Amino acid sequence: MPAHYAPQTFSITRPDDWHLHVRDGAALHTVVPHTAAQFARALIMPNLKPPVTSTAQALAYRDRIHAAAAAAGHSTFEPLMTLYLTDHLPADEILRAKEAGIVGVKLYPAGATTNSDAGVTDMRKTYATLEAMQRTGMPLLVHGEATSPDIDLFDREAVFIDTQLIPLRRDFPALKVVFEHITTREAVQYVQSAQGAIAASITAHHLLYNRNAIFTGGIRPHYYCLPVLKREIHRQALVDAATGGSPRFFLGTDSAPHATQLKEHASGCAGCYTAHAAIELYASAFEAAQALDKLEAFASFHGPDFYGLPRNTGQITLRRESWTPPQSYPFADTTLKPLAGGEVLHWRMA
Ligand code: DOR
Ligand code: ZN
Repeated sequence: MPAHYAPQTFSITRPDDWHLHVRDGAALHTVVPHTAAQFARALIMPNLKPPVTSTAQALAYRDRIHAAAAAAGHSTFEPLMTLYLTDHLPADEILRAKEAGIVGVKLYPAGATTNSDAGVTDMRKTYATLEAMQRTGMPLLVHGEATSPDIDLFDREAVFIDTQLIPLRRDFPALKVVFEHITTREAVQYVQSAQGAIAASITAHHLLYNRNAIFTGGIRPHYYCLPVLKREIHRQALVDAATGGSPRFFLGTDSAPHATQLKEHASGCAGCYTAHAAIELYASAFEAAQALDKLEAFASFHGPDFYGLPRNTGQITLRRESWTPPQSYPFADTTLKPLAGGEVLHWRMA
């Protein structure tokens, strides 16, 4: 397809979301149908309260998500499950997880983000478990931010690469690693040039916005997520990576619902909700880069190829159409404000 590919409608293989938060309980009934309407599969993050630290918990959680999808008419939607790495996750749990079809183990450095209190305080404490992961081919999914309070918030990802990720991968050269929701030029460069099995997911919001979005005309909490939006040069590096065709970069929305009053708060929660219009937001970002023809590989091929899972066989169709997502959705006993709610989007899934 030519670089100026600008169709009115186009179809791609049904995509997957390789990084998603759906919470639990009644909240599932708002957010799971949004994702299941667009994606065949989604990799579900384990940062519940308490976190998902056993195979049995993950399988029960998968059943609750699957039931919420089925109740909305999306019975073929497949939640792919993850475990939460703690200082004490036993190595033998990895074997059980592998046999049960758990797809990855998530590293949250303690204190890095929402519900990360149970995260890892010292990587050394996890080495027996990482050894089992390396041996069984279980991927490590990394929230890549250094947590020391003396590090500038905007530098945390770059510092993490040097102080944590490079040493970790030196000690476990055969461990499959996904550097989740990357936000900086440094992360792009690292993933592009590193040896071995490493890939990165990229969110729609980090492709569409830079850090000005958080402060335009006043503080805008719905643009606050972690890792936080960065400068424009970093956004451009992410767009180049996502649209550049490298199989090391793939779609992961990091759609992270929080009740409106917890976002619009003196100490507002981190997370952007994008599941209501995920593929449309990515299409906007790819079109702005004149790279709509690169969307399918990023959204539908590179993820399953990295995880060693089959590509989907169905298709979705996107149409050029102006529409406005709602400003708010009901969310358990409260509301949820989606990103770009009340704003005109120019692509719509048929
Ligand atoms: O913004 C974020 N929200 N970043 C994360 O890492 C976690 C997520 C959440 O669970 O709300
Ligand atoms: Zn996340």
